[in-house]
Amino acid sequence: MTRHFLRDDDLTPVEQREVLELALRLKAERFAERPLAGPRAVAILFDKPTLRTQLSFTVGVAELGGHPMVVDGNLARIGVRESVEDTAKVLGRQVAAVVWRTFDQSRLETMARHAGVPVVNALTDQFHPCQALADLLTIAEHAGGLDALHDRTLAYVGDGANNMAHSYLLAGATAGMHVRIGTPFGRRPDAQVVDRAAAVAATTGGSVTVVHDAAAAVSGAEAVATDTWVSMGDATSEQEAEELFGPFRLDAELLDRAEPGAVALHCMPAYRGKEITAEVMDGPRSVVLDEAENRLHVQKAVLTWLLERP
Ligand code: NVA
Repeated sequence: MTRHFLRDDDLTPVEQREVLELALRLKAERFAERPLAGPRAVAILFDKPTLRTQLSFTVGVAELGGHPMVVDGNLARIGVRESVEDTAKVLGRQVAAVVWRTFDQSRLETMARHAGVPVVNALTDQFHPCQALADLLTIAEHAGGLDALHDRTLAYVGDGANNMAHSYLLAGATAGMHVRIGTPFGRRPDAQVVDRAAAVAATTGGSVTVVHDAAAAVSGAEAVATDTWVSMGDATSEQEAEELFGPFRLDAELLDRAEPGAVALHCMPAYRGKEITAEVMDGPRSVVLDEAENRLHVQKAVLTWLLERP
C-alpha cells in the first residue's frame, strides 16, 4: 500500500524513530541513499510562498539521485484549471512522489487518494509535519541524541490554532514528549488534534497541555518554540495580532523561565520584535539555523522511507 506523510501521526512512534535515525545517517553521509536514481522526478508544488521548503526539497531530491520539478501554483492553479483528482492521476503516471504546499488539508488528502505514489505535506493550513520532524531532530541533537526526546518538555507560545502548533502536538506526542501550548483562549488548537495527540501521548508516555499563560507554558521546558502570529493566508491584521499575541512574545525574560540550557526554536520566516525578539532569535540559545538545515535531512529521510515501503 502506498504510504503518505500528510500529517505527523501518519508515522507511528516506531516509524518516526526510523525516519529520524535515517535523517541522522543522511546528515552524516549526504549521498548514502539514492532511491531516486535514474533520475526519477519528484513534483514539488507550491500554492503558497516558499524559500526554505523549495530549497530543501530541491536539494534533497537532487541528493537522492532524482530530478526536482518545482511548480508554481499560480501556473498550475490546481483545483481551478483542473481538479485535484485529475492532476493527481496525471502526476502519478510520471513522478516517483508528490510534495505539495497548499491550503486546506482536504486538497492534500485528495491528491494522496488518487496519485498512486507517495504524497508529502510541505505545509497546509492545518499541519507542517516536515518542519516538526526537523525540530525534533534539532532538539535531539542539542539534548544528546534521539533517546533524549522521550520525557522532554517542548513548549510552544503564540498562535495555538496554526499548522505549527498542531504539528508540534502530534509529532511531540509521537516522540513521547510533553507538549505544552501557550496561546490566547480564542486561538486554541483544533480540539480533534488535541484529542488525537493526547491519545498518542497515552501510548508513548508523553502528554499534551494547552494553557493561556505564556509563563506557565514555558516553565521548566527544555525547548521553547514560536511561530509567526499571522500565517500565510490568515487575514488577521498586524494590530489585532499584537493585541492577541503580545503577551506570548518569546523574549529573553520568558525564555529565562525555561530550563537553563533550553533551546529556542522558530521555523522561520521570523518577525523580530513581534513573535520573537532579536535578542532571542539571534542569541546563543537560538537553534533556528539548525532547524532550517535539518529540513533537508529529515525530508530526504521521509522520501527515502516512503519510497522503500513495499
Ligand atoms: N505558520 C506559518 C509557518 C511558515 C513556515 C505559516 O503557515 O505561514
